[in-house]
Amino acid sequence: MAPNAITPPLKLSLLLLLAISISTQSQPHQLKETNMTLYFQDVSAGPNATAVPITGIPGHLWTFASFGTVYCTDDPMTESIEQSSAQVARGQGIYVTSALDGSTTHVLISIVFTNAKFNGSTLEIQGASQQFEKMREVAVVGGTGKFRYAKGFATLMTVYLDTTIAYAVIQCNITVQHY
Ligand SMILES: *[C@@H]1O[C@H](CO)[C@@H](O)[C@H](O)[C@H]1NC(C)=O
Ligand SMILES: *[C@@H]1O[C@H](CO)[C@@H](O)[C@H](O)[C@H]1NC(C)=O
Ligand SMILES: *[C@@H]1O[C@H](CO)[C@@H](O)[C@H](O)[C@H]1NC(C)=O
Ligand SMILES: *[C@@H]1O[C@H](CO)[C@@H](O)[C@H](O)[C@H]1NC(C)=O
Repeated sequence: MAPNAITPPLKLSLLLLLAISISTQSQPHQLKETNMTLYFQDVSAGPNATAVPITGIPGHLWTFASFGTVYCTDDPMTESIEQSSAQVARGQGIYVTSALDGSTTHVLISIVFTNAKFNGSTLEIQGASQQFEKMREVAVVGGTGKFRYAKGFATLMTVYLDTTIAYAVIQCNITVQHY
């Protein structure tokens, strides 16, 4: 028998295997597109802070504008700009000032839904946010539950800011494709 010869029955089963895997891969993907607008209610100082610096470069100030500062956050995300409006999700994760000049923050946030429609589902937000620009954009890189295989983007804009109480409201428009 020649070293590379494959017996006919084996050849057939290989062909069958190939056919099966090809037909599995060619199943139509029925992607849905969802758009939504949510508002991060962000308090970055005081006893009720929802965004807190947890570490930074030793000997440097730990601020939004200083390279290396890491924040942990758990912001309520509401359906409208008012702090008292209905909560839809929590924005939970970390962000770190990732540009040497302080201009960019690297955002790693899970949007953990708490409303009836998407309760328990999540969207994963990641990207370099030009934090001092009016309009920022980050990627939606994945999701769970109702948002499995999610991909898309989110735009962010600060729509309310009161520096005396370190309170900001950030509007977040999300466009996401998912199954
Ligand atoms: C969602 O928003 C995008 C723009 O961000 C728009 O192009 C698209 O048509 C919208 N999709 C739906 C389903 O409304
Ligand atoms: C913090 O939250 C508590 C409980 O909701 C509230 O009584 C208090 O006024 C808040 N403090 C500030 C500084 O917002
Ligand atoms: C969301 O799920 C949690 C845990 O299963 C449950 O306690 C909560 O009541 C649910 N909330 C809504 C709005 O359905
Ligand atoms: C979100 O979408 C609304 C309606 O299209 C628009 O007015 C607003 O500027 C958008 N904001 C962001 C942060 O993209």
